[in-house]
Amino acid sequence: MESRGISRAVIRRLPRYYRYLGELLENGVERISSSDLSKRMKVTASQIRQDLNNFGGFGQQGYGYNVKYLYTEIGKILGLEENHNFIIIGAGNLGQALANYTSFENRGFILKGIFDVNPRLEGVTIRGVQIRMMDELSSFIRDNDVEIGVLTIPKEKAIEVANLLVDNGVRAIWNFAHTDLNLPDNVIVENVHLSESLMQLSYNISRYKEEHK
Ligand code: NAI
Repeated sequence: MESRGISRAVIRRLPRYYRYLGELLENGVERISSSDLSKRMKVTASQIRQDLNNFGGFGQQGYGYNVKYLYTEIGKILGLEENHNFIIIGAGNLGQALANYTSFENRGFILKGIFDVNPRLEGVTIRGVQIRMMDELSSFIRDNDVEIGVLTIPKEKAIEVANLLVDNGVRAIWNFAHTDLNLPDNVIVENVHLSESLMQLSYNISRYKEEHK
């Protein structure tokens, strides 16, 4: 599967295709036309054809898309055919909520450990995973083949902790702290800002009100 040269915009849309195709599979749907997929996803059929053509003709005239094949191939492009071990740094509200979310495991993201500086949290377990103190971090990363670090700590501490993760061999950061991390180019950072999504919602509400005056 060749995914080089595919635009970031297309890659960003893939998780949504993956989710819809997964639902179709669960419902026993074996094939789907771009126009049916378009109705479900509220994306134009031509956008779907354009996006999926990037991966070399998954669709067939008059047959549509083979759901299982497309699901599997998109999963490969997204790197979901292999497991990714991750740890959460910051076992507060958000860190615990993420730790409690079981569906990451279904996608191959395996929660190995949770870390915090608050001694009152030491030894508390979330879904069987123990909260540990930061002095155990280095050896834990080494022993558990940790690929991803999730930052759910105050933003003032994020840069320091991100550097610590990178120094110990973590190559990817899922950053929830509202700050830019400026890490070396070979470290992959994905920033998540729920408030941006909320602002988008707010914009859509305003637009709706404007259009329905
Ligand atoms: P919280 O205060 O409930 O939890 C933060 C935890 O981090 C605490 O348990 C604290 O002891 C721990 N901590 C502090 N310094 C640490 C360090 N150096 N190393 C390890 N652990 C440390 O806060 P909450 O609500 O869980 O939010 C966490 C972070 O996520 C905040 O920066 C917040 O702004 C951000 N956030 C981001 C969202 C987003 O959409 N990106 C949404 C909600 C929160």
